[in-house]
Amino acid sequence: MNILVAGGAGYIGSHAVKQLLAAGHGVAVIDNLFRGHQAALLPEAAFYKLDLADTLELTRVMQEHRVDGVMHFAALTYVHESVEQPWRYYENNTAGTISLLKAMRAAGVGRMVFSSTAATYGEPESVPVLETMRQQPINPYGWSKWCVERILRDTAAADPGFAFAALRYFNVAGAAADGTLGEDHDPETHLIPNILLAALGRKEKITVFGADYPTPDGTCIRDYIHVEDLCAAHLVTMETLHPGDARFYNLGIGKGYSVKEAIESAERVTGRKIPREYGPRRPGDPAILYANAEKIGRELGWKAKYVEIDEIVASAWNWFEIHPRGYAG
Ligand SMILES: NC(=O)c1ccc[n+]([C@@H]2O[C@H](COP(=O)([O-])OP(=O)(O)OC[C@H]3O[C@@H](n4cnc5c(N)ncnc54)[C@H](O)[C@@H]3O)[C@@H](O)[C@H]2O)c1
Repeated sequence: MNILVAGGAGYIGSHAVKQLLAAGHGVAVIDNLFRGHQAALLPEAAFYKLDLADTLELTRVMQEHRVDGVMHFAALTYVHESVEQPWRYYENNTAGTISLLKAMRAAGVGRMVFSSTAATYGEPESVPVLETMRQQPINPYGWSKWCVERILRDTAAADPGFAFAALRYFNVAGAAADGTLGEDHDPETHLIPNILLAALGRKEKITVFGADYPTPDGTCIRDYIHVEDLCAAHLVTMETLHPGDARFYNLGIGKGYSVKEAIESAERVTGRKIPREYGPRRPGDPAILYANAEKIGRELGWKAKYVEIDEIVASAWNWFEIHPRGYAG
């Protein structure tokens, strides 16, 4: 297939490009490089520096590459920023997706795999989180993604030739096994890279937000899915989409690790002491969040290969050891 990867210079999108190419698919990447990295682009994939808002150019690229499907990773992803600048999130993430959908329709492209998020559940009533549970985001980032899910559902209902899957990721972590691609966000808000930045000395210490949660060690528990497992789920989803499909899948490993467990894992993996401090809880952080991701396993046979925290942390550490200054280095 020929796949357009929107946001393919970002953390997850670049790993997806690598897997698509390895599986023999043709790949065209669009990214405005606002938060992506030129160095994460692979030369075998055609690259266009384009914004989601540019419907005409997106249409042209899809026509030129005879695109069969779109993997849509392009978004702004910071919760705090979305609270401060909500319009920016709805404009980029929600309106940007409408522009992409318009281009798909104009180019006759009928398949999309969309990066949704566990943030669309907000603070779920219970764990593990099932796809059928109530979605009630608690910040504009989550709502901007929820809106896209709604738009995709309505698009599929109105257009029998359209098919989509919204993949609701939990916490994505790790790096390409060969150490060529990894996670390099600025600012970095994700736990595992932040712990490893502290191990490297690029951060003075890691702050643990709340040690008084009702969990065995008092720190929050999250579901960490390896980026390669996540991208494998995208491939199998794209390859099995049929006109009329409107699918929703959780992507996680189905169990959680606490913040303390992640720090202890990093200490084992790196052999270094991770300086840490304890701060207050952050508003809106549920104590325990992990997925029930059995649906995609049942329907598509997908299964996470990385389930142990040490393996996930070791994979991220491998990238940091090779790229101690990230892509800039
Ligand atoms: N990383 C996670 O743990 C996680 C969890 C849940 C959901 N997600 C979703 O997965 C997707 C990828 O996340 P990531 O961590 O790789 O983020 P990222 O910031 O590393 O990558 C996003 C890419 O999209 C590009 N982009 C953003 N807006 C664009 C626009 N208007 N036009 C063109 N390009 C644009 C950025 O330049 C960047 O390269 C996002 O949609 C995010 O919401 C990520």
